[in-house]
Formats: sequence, structure tokens, C-alpha cells
Amino acid sequence: MSETDPLRLGVNIDHVATIRNARGGGLPDPVRAAEAAARAGADGITAHLREDRRHIGDGDIERLASGIGLPLNLEMAATEEMLAIALRHKPNACCIVPEKRQEVTTEGGLDVVANGNHLPGIIDPLKKAGIRVSLFIDADAAQIEASAKLGADIIELHTGKYCHAHHDGDDAAFAAELEKLKAGAVLADSLGLEVHAGHGLCFETVAPIAAIPQVVELNIGHFLIGEAIFIGLEEAIAKMRGLMIDARAGENS
Ligand code: PXP
Repeated sequence: MSETDPLRLGVNIDHVATIRNARGGGLPDPVRAAEAAARAGADGITAHLREDRRHIGDGDIERLASGIGLPLNLEMAATEEMLAIALRHKPNACCIVPEKRQEVTTEGGLDVVANGNHLPGIIDPLKKAGIRVSLFIDADAAQIEASAKLGADIIELHTGKYCHAHHDGDDAAFAAELEKLKAGAVLADSLGLEVHAGHGLCFETVAPIAAIPQVVELNIGHFLIGEAIFIGLEEAIAKMRGLMIDARAGENS
């Protein structure tokens, strides 16, 4: 897939660092995973520098920003500390996510409506530095409209509830969450926002999201790193990419 393809795959390598940090030391190296992702045809690398540094560390960001030959999407909380780090390393994009110290993962979207006064202090300096700004939000009309008003370049739609509904076998909730994501993508696109999606996606859940015509990038991590244990990272990425391409082709035919 290339820059001109309609649907890009960003590979999130956070959980390679999770495994490394379980033992301390340097192995496995998330930068090596990023290089493998590049070989497998990933369009970008995503990494979340959490405030507690539970997986990705500052040194990882420095190496990912300087040497992998793929655009880096830095996920970060809307704090002064993270802003300074982003301005120092100038990733291709920053995706602003909500962060609670006690959570296992990013559990819900950013509340752009409630943070309308705080976010410009983070978004504006990033944009001035030439960094694309993405806001990780639920597919909610008020959040999408607030994101456009604040001048975000991109919204990333949180697919966590949709994936949970699938794994719970709740067909009604699954269909309802998918409809919300589709409607959110249409609204965001109509407001001039680029639309990305991610969180919790796997081989079973990726196709309906990949088929949404307004979505141009998926960011996928935990499942791919897990699947790498069984079939290898490059094969897992290639299989995910194949499912994305097939889903998109079906939608367009
Ligand atoms: N997009 C965003 C904004 C995220 O915070 C995450 C998780 O770090 C992902 C995508 C990837 O989610 P997962 O690891 O569940 O595929």
C-alpha cells in the first residue's frame, strides 16, 4: 500500500515494549518491530508515550522519530510535558488521547466538548510546528463538531465498544455501534476532517470498519502483537492488510 492508497495501516507497537518492560533490559526492541512492520508494508508506526511510561519510553520515541523511514503517529495526553516532547521530536502526527493512570488501556474517547478551553493550548503549537493533529474520540456528533471547531486535522474514531460488542456476541449492540461509526465518519468527512479509526480491531472485526469509505487509516496494535506469537508479526500485518483491501474493494464495487 502506498500514500495514494485509500486506506492506510498504522501499526501500534506499544505492546512490544510491554513485553520488554516485563523483564527490564532491551528485548524485545520495539524499534525492531517497527522495522518488521515497514517490511510487511505498514504505512506508519503508532506509539503511545503514556505519562507513567508503562510501555513505550522516551528513548523509544527518540529512535522511532529519527530512524525508521515511516511516519510516526505519537499518541499522547494533552499535557505540557507531552507537548514539549512532541515539539522536540516532531512526529508526522500527534493523536491526543484521554489518559487515566488506573486504566488498562484507553477506555473511551477524548471529551473534546468539556476540554474546549484546554485543548487549543496543545493543538495550536503542534499545528504551528507542522505536526498533524488527531483527536481520539467516540463517534458522537457533538465531539466531532467540537473537533472541527478546534481546528483538528483528523479525528480517530474509537472502535472499542464496537469490538467489545462483537466479542460479547451482542449482535444488536454490534450493529448499533457500527452504525454510529459510519454516521460519525460521514459527519466528520463533511466537516473537512480526515477520518481514522482504531482500538481493539482484529481479523474478525476489521472488515466492516475498513469498508467505511470515509475512513483512510486504521491504527491497530494489541491484536497484531499477540498474533505475532503464533504466525509472526510480518505475516499478521500482511493478513490484516489483505482483509482491509478486500473489505474496501467490496465496498467500492
Ligand atoms: N488508536 C488509539 C488512539 C489508541 O490509543 C490505541 C491503543 O493504544 C490504538 C489505536 C490501538 O488499539 P489496539 O492496541 O487495541 O489495537
